[in-house]
Formats: sequence, structure tokens, C-alpha cells
Amino acid sequence: MTAGPARPARDEGALMAIGVFDSGVGGLTIHRTLTRRFPGRNFLYLADQKHAPYGGLKGEEIVDLTRAGCERLFAEGASVVVLACNTASAIALRRLQQTWVPEAARTFGRPVNVLGIIVPTIEAATGLPWTYARETDDRFRDERKSAVEVLGLFCTQATAHSRVYEIEIDKRREDLAVFTEPCPGLAGQIEAGVDEDALRTTVRDHVDALRRRIGRWPDKVILGCTHYGIVAHLFAEALPEGTPVIGQPDAVADALDRYFARHPEYALGDQGRLRFLTTGSPGGQSERVERFWGEPLTFEKA
Ligand code: DGL
Repeated sequence: MTAGPARPARDEGALMAIGVFDSGVGGLTIHRTLTRRFPGRNFLYLADQKHAPYGGLKGEEIVDLTRAGCERLFAEGASVVVLACNTASAIALRRLQQTWVPEAARTFGRPVNVLGIIVPTIEAATGLPWTYARETDDRFRDERKSAVEVLGLFCTQATAHSRVYEIEIDKRREDLAVFTEPCPGLAGQIEAGVDEDALRTTVRDHVDALRRRIGRWPDKVILGCTHYGIVAHLFAEALPEGTPVIGQPDAVADALDRYFARHPEYALGDQGRLRFLTTGSPGGQSERVERFWGEPLTFEKA
């Protein structure tokens, strides 16, 4: 078992907040959209940079680290934690929801939950609600296109290995073929703040590899690792001009909006406070990340 952050003490005086978790800085691509969509809410962001990147870790390690991160966020006042990480959403989410969240709610003495980002992304990619069942429901038959569309997915090895995007999209849309390109190393390069040229080469190599595998360009793409949103401009450069990208941050914000409307029991805080925690070194975040965020970012040691 991988050691995560130490089991946190319960913080009775903490401000209630929406928690956002990622292995590192990638989740800021989701977080930025959420803070704009829910202005006035308190947000707590936790980057597990001590253990990033997660993409090459074993499943059990990803589950343990994700649970430790969520526990830390609950202890700091989060009521709902958004896993702003495809890898954690693919590998850990269901396990945590089924086996740990009820226990966490008892421990913290209030409603808490952990939500992922893959379901809303698949809904956005397919244009269909998650509950849609192809075999029994023909409500959306007219919307299906006669020609097969090719969807390119860029993601970590762990997400690729889970095959969650292929399986769930295939269940819903037989006219949408998913081709996956795992990009080992890319999230780590973004974490490490390597220079733009090195990132450009890595991104271009993966885009080219995917095009060769498909035999043509994809019709649209998913940047299925939140870190890749920080270098979305490099993907846009490497893909044919105007290739549509499924907008994961907006899809997640829309889903969260609907979720909060159905679940008023979660205390979300309304002081408009943003706190950033890292299990790594505060101050070690690259300039590119601040540029993306748009203003200086101050991380506290988790
Ligand atoms: N940003 C994460 C994701 O969306 C994790 C990347 C990593 O840690 O390898 O998959």
C-alpha cells in the first residue's frame, strides 16, 4: 500500500467548501472553470504532487492515494470532492463511492461525497444522458449520424488501460469509434515545468502516432487527462486546424450545477475563499501553471 498524506485530524472550525483533487496541477483546468461557474463558493484544491504523476501507478496505489487526498479535503472542510483527474476517476471513484464514502460521512458527521469527471465528459462526447440505454431506448435514434465518427482520446496509461471511455461510449453510440493514445510522461513533463519546445515535441509525436494508427485524422478529440488542458494550444497546433475538442471543464461544471440542484444537503460555503494545498513543495509550481491560472497562485503545504 502506498503511503498517502497522514490521516488528518478533524478540523471543526474549517470553512465548508467544494473540494477539487488531482495528482498535481492538471486539475486546475477543471478548477478554474468551476470557480467561474460558482463564484462566491469556497474552494479547496489539493494537488498530490508528492506522488504525481499517477498515470503509471498500480490501481491499488491510485485508490489509496485518492482516498487519502479526499480524506484530507473533507478534514479541511470540503463536503463534495470533485476528482479533477481522469486517472483517479477511472480507477478509484467507484471503489471509493461504494466502499468508503459512507464511512467517511460517519467519521466527519456530515454529508460528504466524491464525484468524478468521466461521466460528464462521456455525456458531452455522446450528446446523450448517462442513463441512456441503446438497446431499449430509441429516443435519440434520429440524432445518430449514418457515418462513423472517429474520436481521438489522449490520456494516461492507467486511464487507457481501464478502457472506460471506449466501453462506455461504445455502449451508447455505435457510430462513434474511440481511438486511444496513451501519453506516458506528458503529465510528468507538465508537472516538472519542462520547456515549451520539449512539450511541443511530445504532443506532436502522440498526435502523429494516433493519426497513423487511425489511418486518418480524428474528427474530434478528448484531452482525457486534465494536465493536457494546460497545453491545449500545443494539441491544437498539432491537430488539423479547427479540430473540435470535447470541453471537459464545462461538461463537469454543468454536471455539478445539476448535482447541487438535486442535493441541497451539501454545505458549500459562500465566502468566496480559494485555498490551494499541495503534498509537494509550495512554490514549486511552474510559471506555465500561473500563466494558465491567470494570476499568482499560492499553495500551502498539505
Ligand atoms: N491529471 C490527471 C488525469 O486527468 C493525472 C495525470 C497523472 O498524474 O498521471 O489523468
